[in-house]
Amino acid sequence: MFREQSFDNLPMENLERPAVGSMASAPAEVKAPAGGLQPTAALPTQRAQWFARASRVMPWGVSSNFRYWGEEGTMVIARGKGAYVWDVDGKRFIDYRLGFGPVILGHAYDAVNQAVIQAMQDGNVFAMTNVHEVRAAEAICRMTGVEQVRFTNSGAESTMHALRVARAHTGRERFIKFEGCYHGAHDHVMWSTSTSPVSAMGSRRNPIPVPTSSGIPSVLRDKVIPLPYNDFEMLERTVRDYGHEIAAILVEPIMGNSACIMPAPGWLEFIRHLCDAHGIVLILDEVKTGFRIAPGGAQQFFNIQADLVAYAKAMGNGFPVGAIGGKREFMMTIEPGAVGQGGTYCGNVVSVAACEATLRVMETEPVFEVINQRGARLMSGIHQLLEQYGVPHAVTGVPAMFGVHIGHTPGLPIPTDYRSMSRFADESLSHRITAALHQRGILPDIDFQEPWFLCYSHSEADIDETLEKYEDALREVLRA
Ligand SMILES: Cc1ncc(COP(=O)(O)O)c(C=O)c1O
Repeated sequence: MFREQSFDNLPMENLERPAVGSMASAPAEVKAPAGGLQPTAALPTQRAQWFARASRVMPWGVSSNFRYWGEEGTMVIARGKGAYVWDVDGKRFIDYRLGFGPVILGHAYDAVNQAVIQAMQDGNVFAMTNVHEVRAAEAICRMTGVEQVRFTNSGAESTMHALRVARAHTGRERFIKFEGCYHGAHDHVMWSTSTSPVSAMGSRRNPIPVPTSSGIPSVLRDKVIPLPYNDFEMLERTVRDYGHEIAAILVEPIMGNSACIMPAPGWLEFIRHLCDAHGIVLILDEVKTGFRIAPGGAQQFFNIQADLVAYAKAMGNGFPVGAIGGKREFMMTIEPGAVGQGGTYCGNVVSVAACEATLRVMETEPVFEVINQRGARLMSGIHQLLEQYGVPHAVTGVPAMFGVHIGHTPGLPIPTDYRSMSRFADESLSHRITAALHQRGILPDIDFQEPWFLCYSHSEADIDETLEKYEDALREVLRA
């Protein structure tokens, strides 16, 4: 077997542990000295070594583009427990990324891990219905009000299948999505997302669909109609003109990929009304909001009923599981031999046992009360600090997931769509504050559009420490 070079046999304890923490502190290039590493002052950090290894065998050293934070900043994590993660150099972080949101109870949460360990002793994949799957589906229906569920393995699979079901149900092919909403990495939805440049999107009265990546077939362009979020008039006009061609309106109930821009009052109800009037399927993308902002997700929080809902993330506390749920009428569009949904690992025991255990904790413990209370303190604490230090900003979202828009001009309305958000954002200042937080062991995402996520394991002391360090970070950045 080809092995270019390996650090596998190097005793970790022989490596000197340099002071770390700065995202820019590690050397870029790492070469293993012949005969093994010697503990010298010039030794690279463990992070740099692991990242060098990773980069040789994985493009950019990561398994997902969003994790690439540059040559010197990309993190390598050793472990997580509760609200904390530790990097390979042993530095502890209070984690507000939580794996992009799934970790709702805490990392390596005992009740979930024990349930998974027990379940997997009896096998994992049977390509048959299993009892954990049935109990997990029942819990999802009970908590959210959907009538039926099919399991998937990720958020992208959930939106992909929901879209297919909607198309099969209506016999139409086009769908409306909103600029700055992200629905996963499949070709149909990678248009005008939260990483697309506004400069390419054209006029807001006539938006141009912008592919988020090279490699997306241009034939799909005609199938997607991107519109600005919260623009009632544009939506009404579009549905009036093209409603008979539109299978679905796919929407994030909170813009969880654009710093948690909230739906304007009446926005979700307006979408519901237009869908009813034009025979369009309303697909709520609850991959981020589901089992996070309320037990019944956004449907409960906003008192809105979708036809189909895409779930993933928090339903499994970090294990890879997703689901589509919805009204029986729409779910039963799925039909063996006629309308496809499935996959070898859909409903595998590990994933659905994790889901079952996660939802059991949610149904029996004050998970949402704790998250909401701590999240509200953090949200208002950050807002007060930014105000106190004169940093123009807006804080949007809900306590379980919220966004901090640095650079928002005081007096102007809070951003309501991707275009207005991007216009105001001071990404440079935002980035400097985030880097200073990372140095101090506080870990929000480097991209301000990704929310701060809370979990059940965040303690009052964690919130205190975070606010203390946030102030300290602000002082340093503003002094510079
Ligand atoms: C709203 C939303 N939908 C879908 C997805 C895709 O989920 P996954 O990464 O599990 O495929 C994401 C991922 O962040 C998301 O935020």
